[in-house]
Amino acid sequence: MKISVIGCGYLGAVHAASMAELGHEVIGIDVDPARIESLQQGIAPFHEPGFDALLKKNASRLTFITDMSAAAGASVHFVAVGTPQAADGSADMTYVNGAIEGLLPYLAEGDLVVGKSTVPVGTAERLSELVTPTGAILMWNPEFLREGFAVEDTLSPDRLVYGVPEGTDGDTATAALDQVYAEILAKDTPRLVMNFATAELVKVAANSFLATKISFINAMAEIADVTGANVTQLADAIGYDTRIGRRFLNAGIGFGGGCLPKDIRGFVARAEELGVGEALSFLKDVDDINLRRRARVVDVLAEELGDLSGKTIAVWGISFKPDSDDIRDSPALDIAETLARSGAKVVSADPEGWKPAQARVERAGLSASLTTTSDHRAATTGADALVIATEWNVFQNEDATAIGELMAQKLVVDGRNCLDADAWKAAGFRYRGMGRA
Ligand code: UGA
Repeated sequence: MKISVIGCGYLGAVHAASMAELGHEVIGIDVDPARIESLQQGIAPFHEPGFDALLKKNASRLTFITDMSAAAGASVHFVAVGTPQAADGSADMTYVNGAIEGLLPYLAEGDLVVGKSTVPVGTAERLSELVTPTGAILMWNPEFLREGFAVEDTLSPDRLVYGVPEGTDGDTATAALDQVYAEILAKDTPRLVMNFATAELVKVAANSFLATKISFINAMAEIADVTGANVTQLADAIGYDTRIGRRFLNAGIGFGGGCLPKDIRGFVARAEELGVGEALSFLKDVDDINLRRRARVVDVLAEELGDLSGKTIAVWGISFKPDSDDIRDSPALDIAETLARSGAKVVSADPEGWKPAQARVERAGLSASLTTTSDHRAATTGADALVIATEWNVFQNEDATAIGELMAQKLVVDGRNCLDADAWKAAGFRYRGMGRA
């Protein structure tokens, strides 16, 4: 099939390459010429395991272009543009609205427009009224990919969710998308067909649940800190109950990235607009607990070192999670910036995140007190404290004794509870975890 993908950010670029992997002829369209140039050359504009190889392997079926008119002639059009957080916390719909309006002149009778972006409930109904007069059908097919596993999650998803219009248009849309995903469906992937509102809600409900799970365990970490309990053992013990499950119960400095934080805020804003704000008031607590985790690291350092002004602090981790160079709302970078603002000399190290972080640090006017590097050992030399802020494997596998020899003081704050505490203590470190003494 001939497919267009509007928006070649994280979601769109991976989706485009994955659709080519399924055998389709794909045109990726984006307004950013630098991004398009890079993708056209087969170079991934972001770090994502397996994505480079997928681009190269499917180059003959992939075209990337800035011109929306290239969508003409495709029968399925995926809309995968971003919905960033607006100043009031709601989702900014500028790009989704722009993509649909830009696409309308190129739609033909019988085409399928498939929304993938995370949108406030009610969006698909509204956009459907714009698309229907062209003879095309709109449906919503939310995406659940995780950064770091984006290719795997797209080609082997846990489930496929189709939000479709009522009546025969819904059946037609379902049949057309089944054809696109035939190879995925052949692997017995569950496919759930529902109305627009339910599909839109599935996405934000899933992310809200995950965020709540993380904040729940971080709330337990707060209690553990004042009672001498160990939150990791607590998570292990409750996680054996399959109704609870152990995944997403890792306490630490909390969640960040381009999805969870903005999605819970956007969901709260939409519920308030709908007059049911109270239903989601707990998500404000989820957000507050999460943000307190970042402050907690700074407090622990101050407990240990006193006035932070003039202290040298190494921070391992800049990206919001390992195997990613994404620094959007990264707890690691946020903590480094707070430390720099409080007068400390901070060196942040990350295998991938150090590059995009440099420009942000300059924009924030923090270059004098916060430097970034890919070399975590160099970052640690002469430091009074080490903070683990992103659990890259290379950090977890480090030799505590060798690291201790580089430092002025052997103090480690394990913001992700990912180190072998006993090994670091045995190497002479004062070890401070998050909710585990
Ligand atoms: C998240 C969801 O997991 C995906 O299912 C969803 O498709 C995606 O958002 C999206 O909406 O596009 P992602 O942002 O890639 O995916 O990151 P997660 O793996 O969910 O991690 C989010 C944050 O939570 C990270 O900062 C991570 O360090 C933190 N986290 C995760 C914890 O603090 N504790 C945990 O136990 C797990």
